[in-house]
Amino acid sequence: MASVELHPDIPVNIVLLSIREPRRIRKHYERGDLIILSDVRIDADFDSIAAAEPSGGVEVRRQKFVFRKSVKGKPANRSTIWQRFFGGRLENEPEACRQIQNAISAVDTQMDRLVRKIFSRQRFIIDFTAWKFQRIVGENLHIDNLPNLNDSTQVRLFANVDNKPRRWSVGRHWRHYAERYFISAKLFEVADDAPEFNGRLNHAAFGQSHMSCDEPRHLLEFEVGEVWLINSAIVAHQVRGGDRLCSANYEYPYGQCMSRRETLPYMIREIASRHGFPPLQAKQSLRRLLPFLRSRAA
Ligand SMILES: [Fe+2]
Repeated sequence: MASVELHPDIPVNIVLLSIREPRRIRKHYERGDLIILSDVRIDADFDSIAAAEPSGGVEVRRQKFVFRKSVKGKPANRSTIWQRFFGGRLENEPEACRQIQNAISAVDTQMDRLVRKIFSRQRFIIDFTAWKFQRIVGENLHIDNLPNLNDSTQVRLFANVDNKPRRWSVGRHWRHYAERYFISAKLFEVADDAPEFNGRLNHAAFGQSHMSCDEPRHLLEFEVGEVWLINSAIVAHQVRGGDRLCSANYEYPYGQCMSRRETLPYMIREIASRHGFPPLQAKQSLRRLLPFLRSRAA
C-alpha cells in the first residue's frame, strides 16, 4: 500500500477506497480528494515494460505516448504512434515489438475497465490512455489548467507502471488558493475562463519553480502497480519522482456530475459573487450553460 506522510497544517484530502464502492469514489473525486484504490493492482510485467521504453525517454527529455484514444466512443487509429514508439525496432524485432504492444495494450484495457466501472453512467466526450516515460525531478506543486475546463471535467486515473515507487505530493483544495489570491492576483479579471483562471492562480500560488515554493503538502509514495484517482484541476499536486506512468484521461460534461456545486465553473462564480463581482454577462452565461442543457436533453 502507498506510504503517506501527512502534513499537520493542512486538511487530509487522501482516502483509501474499494473499487466496490464506485459511488463513494465518484463523490470523493468530485470533492477533490485523492483516492487510492485499496483492492486494485495493475497486472503487468513491469520489468519488461521498463526495458521496452523508447530510447528518447532516457534523461530529462519528456516522452508521452497515447496508444489508445476514443472520441465519442469511436476508437481512433493509433498505428503511427506505435511506429514512433518502436522506431527502427519494428523492422528488426517484430516479435519483441508485438509482445511489448500486447503488454501495454493489456494495461490500457485494465485501466479502461476501472474507469468504466467507477464512472459507469458517464458518457465520455473523449477518452484516452497516456503513457509517460519521463524523468521528472523538478515539477512544482500545481493545479492543472486543462483546455476544456469551461465545459467538462476530466477523470484522471493513474497507475504506477514503473518497477519502483512513484513519489507524489498533494497540497490543498483549489478553494484555498483561489480565495487567498482572488483579489491580489486579479483573478476576477478571468472569472469567465476556467483554464485562464487556473493558469493565473498557479503563478500566484506556487511561483515559478519548486525551488521557491514552500506551500505545505502531504507526501506519498505509490507502489508498483498501484492505482489512484484525482481531479487534478481542483487539487494542488506534484510529481516528485518516478520514470513511468500510465494515466487514463476521460472527459465528460459538467452536467453529468453528481454535484454542480463542486464543479470548477460553479466554484469560480461562487467566489466571484462572494467578493462582490457581478455574475457573468448573459452571453457568457449562455455559452457555459449550453453544454449542460445539451447533456440533459440527450
Ligand atoms: Fe498535473
